[in-house]
Amino acid sequence: MIKYVIAIDGPAAAGKSTVAKRVAKALNITYIDTGAMYRAFTLYVIEQGISPENQAASEACIPDVHIELKPSGEIYLNNKDVSQAIREPRVSSQVSYIASYKAIRLALVDLQRKMADKQSVVMDGRDIGTYVLPEANVKIYQIASVETRAVRRYEENLEKGIQTSLESVEEELRKRDYIDSHRDFAPLKPAPDSVLIDTSFMKVEDVVQRILDIVQKKTTVGA
Ligand code: DC
Repeated sequence: MIKYVIAIDGPAAAGKSTVAKRVAKALNITYIDTGAMYRAFTLYVIEQGISPENQAASEACIPDVHIELKPSGEIYLNNKDVSQAIREPRVSSQVSYIASYKAIRLALVDLQRKMADKQSVVMDGRDIGTYVLPEANVKIYQIASVETRAVRRYEENLEKGIQTSLESVEEELRKRDYIDSHRDFAPLKPAPDSVLIDTSFMKVEDVVQRILDIVQKKTTVGA
């Protein structure tokens, strides 16, 4: 049986999770949303009354944070379903600080590697192809213009009943991308062997098909 390890990286709101979920479904393999793990950690820190900008206090939470990704897609933080709460603006606006702390990244990367060890996965994030799973058979770097990403995230928020303005969403995306790509440890950047897909003017199903075609080519004997 073929073991698929598919890494999808790229900036915030580039549509990675939508695409990754569909690719995983088409191949009948597990989808792992690593951003959700950094978000759950951030939620824990906020709920302790700690500022995520406080590195030492945030890192001290590591032993108390237990994150579980359920096969059905929900994310649990210390046995509580936090799938909705981690999408709130109070988490989105702070998560890049938490994701820039090396000790926290190492703890979550360890979990991510263990999950990919025992099964075929589609994993999305920022450093999957460059750091977490450098041996992935397919690496995608998915991008879209910041304007397109802001509109998509704004509409998503509206659907979820989260009140934001388009301007604030765009500003938050720019800020997050800056912090994510300028941190010292495992920053956001394309792996040299990744395939770049600009989804600004593409339909979701076309992006999914493009990735499935790449997967098929890479996993065909003799390719
Ligand atoms: O994909 P997302 O927007 O849910 O990710 C939330 C934050 O977590 C994002 O700002 C960067 C960070 N992140 C990361 O640093 N590394 C990952 N593998 C996934 C997410």
